[in-house]
Amino acid sequence: MNINDFYKYKDNGSKISMITCYDYWTAQIINKSDIDCILIGDSLAMVSHGFDSTLPATLELMAQHTEAVKRGAPDKFIIADMPFLTFRKSIDSVMDSVQKLMVAGANAIKLEGVRGHEKIIEHIVGSGIPVMGHLGLTPQSFNSLGGFKVQSKTEKEVVKLLEDAKNLEKLGCFSIVLECIPDSVARKVTEELTIPTIGIGAGKECSGQVLVLQDMLGINTGYTPKFVRKFLNGTELITSALNEYNKSVKDGNFPDKGESYGG
Ligand code: KIV
Repeated sequence: MNINDFYKYKDNGSKISMITCYDYWTAQIINKSDIDCILIGDSLAMVSHGFDSTLPATLELMAQHTEAVKRGAPDKFIIADMPFLTFRKSIDSVMDSVQKLMVAGANAIKLEGVRGHEKIIEHIVGSGIPVMGHLGLTPQSFNSLGGFKVQSKTEKEVVKLLEDAKNLEKLGCFSIVLECIPDSVARKVTEELTIPTIGIGAGKECSGQVLVLQDMLGINTGYTPKFVRKFLNGTELITSALNEYNKSVKDGNFPDKGESYGG
């Protein structure tokens, strides 16, 4: 998939599949799968590093994970998240951040919101860097949103979301993530835009879907939001393999002759 395919998929009515990925070994597996594109989300601060929000994801951390994912999935279109506040600084500072992520291997960057950083988005797009927007529940703003909860529930909020989405399209974004909004609102946004929308907790009418890999594999042992479907019982499978290994070690059944060097 390349940038042009995002528009083609929307025009053809083909859905876009996006999955988060933070490391080399899962990137290798995704590279061999049919998944369309990879998001190195700043959710890695929570999922891989155990923080309770995405705010501690630094640029250095995002760049390091981007390099690892690129090494594992050289054939996939990779989008990297701009960390908390990195796109709210001076143009020079923003462009240094964008440069680090692109040089690390991203094909595009994603940033949250639009109000107040319109000029910055325009400048990044004008520099030849594809930008993905992110509206609805924008986790970097959880303090002003009052937590991680469903957005755009009132008519006024829906009007604002629609305005923001149209603005992102006008500024040159190639796609927009819609997170945790009612499915009727996501459908309206998707219908009114020419660029594709990628939903997470936004119903099936979006142009594509994104899930956190550890959520859909059932290996995230923490809270699971309503919108997650577990396509694997990963925690059960891994725990059972670990217990089997433990038992084999304790029973003296591992390693056997074939797993040892004779001589
Ligand atoms: O950081 C992330 O994983 C994301 C997705 C939830 C869209 O932004």
